Amino acid sequence: MLLEKMLQSQGFGSRKHCQQLIKNGAITVQGEVQTDLKFRVDVKNLNFSVFGQSYVYREKIYIALNKPQGFECSHHPQHHQSVFDLFPDILRERGLAAVGRLDQDTTGLLLLTDDGKFLHALTHPKRHVPKVYHVTTLDTVSPNQLITLEKGVELHNEKGIFAATNVHLLDEYQLSLTIHQGVYHQVKRMLAAVGNKVQALHRQQIGELVLPELELGEWIYLNEDQIHAAQQSRSP
Ligand code: URA
Repeated sequence: MLLEKMLQSQGFGSRKHCQQLIKNGAITVQGEVQTDLKFRVDVKNLNFSVFGQSYVYREKIYIALNKPQGFECSHHPQHHQSVFDLFPDILRERGLAAVGRLDQDTTGLLLLTDDGKFLHALTHPKRHVPKVYHVTTLDTVSPNQLITLEKGVELHNEKGIFAATNVHLLDEYQLSLTIHQGVYHQVKRMLAAVGNKVQALHRQQIGELVLPELELGEWIYLNEDQIHAAQQSRSP
């Protein structure tokens, strides 16, 4: 691949800008400065650096973020910061998108990618990818509420019944549950439908991918196994 094309694909700006970086001697490939605009790179296991900062070539990016509170999953947030502010410019430049949305006050596992197929596979309503949440409630959770969540509830303006699986009481005010759809505010509305209220919400798992050990606001690139695990539809 032409060096400038490779740089462009990794989010380093327009073709012109990438050419300028090369001409200015800002780019090293496998340890050597490359100023030749005709230089071609083999992208397999490619390491390069831009202004001394090293990068690994990635055809597509798959990221897990432990989302903190107070961030909206939108490029045009209304009232809070954008989750995309947590990432470097080069990733935003590549068209990083959130795989579904978490509310601004929800914490936990958020996947982000620039791979449209991956995004589609995880968000398509027919795939029913399970998502595990930990819920803290305002009122004590009654046995009846747990049963009703598993039986399913109706939600205003939504078709069908919304049932959770693996509903477990963690303590008086906390439960975990798995949902298989992803309509707007689904967990909060399900808890409201059984007569309780969500105080805090945390996503712990998508498919078979459990939130890796990350501080709030920290993120990692997923490896092949983790990318695969996120797409598994079997309930935990
Ligand atoms: N359900 C909600 O109510 N909010 C979220 O952020 C995710 C699921």
